[in-house]
Amino acid sequence: MQSYTLLAPAKINLYLEIIGLRADGYHELAMVMQTVDLADKIVLRPNGNDAFRLSCDHPQVPADHTNLAYKAAELMTKEFPKSYANYGGADINIQKNIPVAAGLAGGSTNGAAVLVGLNLIWQLGLTHSELEELAGQLGSDVPFCISGGTALATGRGNELDTLPPLNNLYVVLAKYENLSVPTPWAYKTYKDQFSETYVNNAETLESRGKRVHAGPIISAIAHQDSPKIGELLHNDLEKVVLPAYPQVEQLRQAFLKEKENNPEAILGAMMSGSGPTVFAITTTLTEAENLKQKIQTTLPDPDLKLWVAKFTSSGISIAGDS
Ligand code: C5P
Repeated sequence: MQSYTLLAPAKINLYLEIIGLRADGYHELAMVMQTVDLADKIVLRPNGNDAFRLSCDHPQVPADHTNLAYKAAELMTKEFPKSYANYGGADINIQKNIPVAAGLAGGSTNGAAVLVGLNLIWQLGLTHSELEELAGQLGSDVPFCISGGTALATGRGNELDTLPPLNNLYVVLAKYENLSVPTPWAYKTYKDQFSETYVNNAETLESRGKRVHAGPIISAIAHQDSPKIGELLHNDLEKVVLPAYPQVEQLRQAFLKEKENNPEAILGAMMSGSGPTVFAITTTLTEAENLKQKIQTTLPDPDLKLWVAKFTSSGISIAGDS
């Protein structure tokens, strides 16, 4: 049986609006998600027995049943018991390049890769939309990670509308290695502080949803208007994460100061997802490399890690098979 090596890329949020609270306890969101080419490598090797064994080269990533990659394998065995009985389990190895607990969907993209990998190994022939349906059971960001690219995500983040690709932009990602923000904490704190602003009735929720579909950032993306996209970056979760994590605010300010000095090349800066990663968008690779250097000089902390990546339109992809 064939082994597969998959690339599982990270995402950033260009827009994250919290609209209200859903009956299922999750938040109703409107997000613009964007894949960037900083990717983990996931190798799936059929092992001829009925077990899934997980290994990962990152000490902070649990190689057990709590890992979304493992949960994805469990879900597939439940959904496709005959294929599981026929083909058996696999050894799954994760080579981590995406920072963990960072607001970059690192865990979600690994779960998505296992769904895609088992679809191939077990020759299930599932379509992307069928895989996205399964992915929704693993987490709100997992469906987006299957196809990636540029998309509007609504509902709890799992309802996707593909947007025109934005392939000519670069991003500098910055994260303090030892800092992480628990996503449930970020949403709960937001609810505690801002629930009076929530849209509560179904009708208003629907019209709000429609407004987002026709909203300024969607229009800017449709027109490939990069400076406008930079201007319209928005993340409601910054309202709770920045006051609680001053280092993240300081990082964001450092990026924004560089933008003031070079507004043509640095389009905008913001926190991604529930943080603590802060990103800045640039028009060229050289500008991204320059910006990375400048931030390293301004904030010379060995705990601060920076990456340069490119916007990409691919989700989970095959890097090799054998
Ligand atoms: O779906 P996922 O497991 O990634 O979500 C992690 C946590 O983030 C949830 O348990 C919930 O606390 C919060 N969340 C939310 N509303 C969403 C997505 C996530 O409240 N739409």
